[in-house]
Amino acid sequence: FMVDKGNHRHFMEKEIHEQPEVISHTLAHYLDFGAGVSKPLDLPFDFAKLDRLSISACGTAYLSGVIGKYWFERLARLPVDIDIASEFRYREMPIVKNSAAFFVSQSGETADTLASLRYCRKAGVPIGAVVNVRESTIARESDVILPTLAGPEIGVASTKAFTCQLSVLASLAVRAGVARGTISPEREKVLVRELSEAPRYANQVLKLDQQIEKLARELSSYKHVLYLGRDTNYPLAMEGALKLKEISYIHAEGYAAGELKHGPIALIDENMPVIVIAPHDRIFEKTVSNMQEVAARGGKVILITDKKGAEQASLQTMETIVLPDMPEIITPIVYALPIQMLAYYTAVFMGTDVDQPRNLAKSVTVE
Ligand code: G6P
Repeated sequence: FMVDKGNHRHFMEKEIHEQPEVISHTLAHYLDFGAGVSKPLDLPFDFAKLDRLSISACGTAYLSGVIGKYWFERLARLPVDIDIASEFRYREMPIVKNSAAFFVSQSGETADTLASLRYCRKAGVPIGAVVNVRESTIARESDVILPTLAGPEIGVASTKAFTCQLSVLASLAVRAGVARGTISPEREKVLVRELSEAPRYANQVLKLDQQIEKLARELSSYKHVLYLGRDTNYPLAMEGALKLKEISYIHAEGYAAGELKHGPIALIDENMPVIVIAPHDRIFEKTVSNMQEVAARGGKVILITDKKGAEQASLQTMETIVLPDMPEIITPIVYALPIQMLAYYTAVFMGTDVDQPRNLAKSVTVE
C-alpha cells in the first residue's frame, strides 16, 4: 500500500511527528496502563532464569540496544552483552548457558543481524526479534516476535522505529525486573505510569520546533560537531551524531562525556560546537563539569536539558534547549526527538536529500 507525506515536506518530518502516537501504540502492546502492570508475554525462556541476555543489531537499532542494556541491567539486574551485528557474527563469542538473544531491526532484513541470529540459532539460544516488519526474515526465524508498532518507516534515517524500539526494550526491562524480583508490584505501577507519559512529553517537545530550526540554521555552518552524554544519554549522543552525519553530511561524533579528557578535548575550539545531552539526573553534576572543561577551552556548548538542569548548569551556552522535567526512565525516548529535529532541520538548510541521503540504504541486505 501507499504511504504519503501528508502535509509534511519529507517523510522524515512526518515520521518524527508521528512519534507520540506510535510510541503510545507500542507501549500499550506491552503494558496495561489501567492495571499498572506489564503484560505477560509468551517467551521461549524465563527472564527469572537467565544469566545473560545478548542483544545485536546495526545502526540506529544497535543504539537502541545499548540503551536497552542500561535498562535491563539497572531495572532487572540482568547482565547484557550488546554487539554490533557485523562484529557479533565473527567474534566467536562463547555461548553462555541460560542465555537468550534479542535482535533489533526495523526492516527485519539486515544481513549482519540475520547472520548473528543464525549463529545463535545454531547454538540453541532462544531468540527474540524486536522488529517493525512482522513479515520479515528476522521475524520468521525467531522464536518470539516482539513487535514495534511504528508503522511503515520510509525515511532512510530511522526516527520513529528507534523510539518504538526503546519503548519495547523499556517495557521488556520492566517485565524482566518483575520476573526476577527486582521490581516490586508498587514500583512496577510507578514505572508503567511513567512510561505511559512518554507520548505526552514527546508531544510537548515537538513544539520546540521553531527554536530547534533556528539553531539548526546556525549549526549548518559548521564542519564538525561533538555530542556528549553520560549513562543512557551516551548512546543517545551517538545516535545524535549518527543522525546528523547521515542526512546533513556534517562530520559528527558521539562520545561518553567522561571520555572527553581522553581524546576529543584536543579538538575543542570555537569551530566545533559541542551538543551536551543532560537531563537533570543522578550524574548531572559530572556532565556540568565536562561542559565547563569545554567552555574553558573556548568551545561552544549547546545544552539539551530540562528545567531543573537549565537552572543549575550556570554556564554560558551557545543555546540551551529546555525540555520539561520528566521521569528518568522516559528520557531516552523523549530526548531522541530534539536530536532528530536538530539533524532534520540542519539537513534541510544544507539542501540535502533528507529522505534518501547519498550512499545510504534503508535496509542493508548484503554484507
Ligand atoms: C541502515 C539504515 C538505518 C538502520 C540500519 C539497521 O543503515 O539506514 O536507519 O538503523 O540500517 O537497519 P534495521 O532495518 O536492521 O533496523
